[in-house]
Amino acid sequence: MRKIYLVGFMGCGKSAIGRRLSYYLKLPYYDMDTEIVRQQGMSIPEIFEAYGEERFREIETEFLENFRDERCIIATGGGVAMKEENRRIMRRTGLVFFLDAAFNDIYMRIRNDKNRPIVRRSTREELEELYLSRRKYYHESAQIQVLTEGRSLRQIVEYIG
Ligand code: S3P
Repeated sequence: MRKIYLVGFMGCGKSAIGRRLSYYLKLPYYDMDTEIVRQQGMSIPEIFEAYGEERFREIETEFLENFRDERCIIATGGGVAMKEENRRIMRRTGLVFFLDAAFNDIYMRIRNDKNRPIVRRSTREELEELYLSRRKYYHESAQIQVLTEGRSLRQIVEYIG
């Protein structure tokens, strides 16, 4: 069963695009963070706080490994493409799209977000560094890069679909 995975940095539009795409393609949509929060009964900051980031990364891989076998759209967390194992699972089970957005746009969207532990603990400079260092992994994981800058949600969705 081929899934559609959306990868990219926090705030690049994975959830908004995933929801619209779900409507457009008439496929179920899942947001990894939301599913993990439901499974664990804790918010993402609570999971980081209680178990640490390393455990959160394991939970992400467990999610990918065990997720139901159906054609669907999955918005991944911004750190998912960092792990080779995750990249392998995604490419084996689906098509991976890298949603590429400019750092400035991303930063405007995420800077005040209390629900993202990495944003809470980082300066703008640190986030930009992380953004730059992660790009090669997003490229590596994805078969298709989608430039989102200057495009409407509708244009992006029609391009992917
Ligand atoms: C993370 C991104 C978040 C969430 C967690 C860690 C990251 O997902 O998984 O806060 O390491 O980039 P979003 O990309 O949906 O914000």
